[in-house]
Amino acid sequence: MSQLGVNIDHVATIRQVRGGKEPDPVKAALIAELAGCDSIVCHLREDKRHIQERDVRLLKELVQTKLNLEMAATDAMVKFALNIKPNQVTLVPERREELTTEGGLDVISQREKITAIVSLLQEQKILVSLFIEPDIAQIRASAKTNAMMIEIHTGQYANSINPEEELEKIVEAVSFARKQGLRVVAGHGLTYRNTAQIVAITGIEELNIGHSIISHALFVGLDEAVREMLEIVRG
Ligand code: PXP
Repeated sequence: MSQLGVNIDHVATIRQVRGGKEPDPVKAALIAELAGCDSIVCHLREDKRHIQERDVRLLKELVQTKLNLEMAATDAMVKFALNIKPNQVTLVPERREELTTEGGLDVISQREKITAIVSLLQEQKILVSLFIEPDIAQIRASAKTNAMMIEIHTGQYANSINPEEELEKIVEAVSFARKQGLRVVAGHGLTYRNTAQIVAITGIEELNIGHSIISHALFVGLDEAVREMLEIVRG
């Protein structure tokens, strides 16, 4: 049975539009946990366009399940993570002009740097996950960094007009990663319509979902939106 991590970034996106205090992503995290999710995910971007440092500090205090901090592989972010000590860090690529995380991390070209970051974080008992495309060469490189986990980027699958082909790539990637001894989670672009097919893949322990849940919450409330997704994720 897979688990559900709820990404609360877009609650912060709405707050930042007015630069005030509402809606508070920390409150959203607590509601998502009460609804039964298994972890809280947030992405502290370098441009701080949605989640702020204050949010991460409060989340670390209040989250009772597991806090998964997504961040770029930079010195400043590593310093911040070592200070906060979330349960998990997911390293993601970041480009300032992108609307959302486009594509996975290129572990192959940055292997030395990523290996050093993995070591610094894992020494402090922070689980490190690398957000990568379902690509065998990237998985092989990821295993060599000593990271314990990868998150397969499901964006291509979610946006494809031929999702079966993309699904096949994910199935192969998960199987290869498990053989390398990696733990595997998945996320990005998953919705109430396209998540069941990913849940059906053996070997994926958790799905990280944000935009679709927060969008649905506008109409049914966050508690109900999380519960509906949990039904899909838990089969
Ligand atoms: N996983 C990672 C690593 C991400 O960067 C994101 C987006 O912040 C998600 C999952 C969630 O994507 P979505 O908001 O499309 O569900």
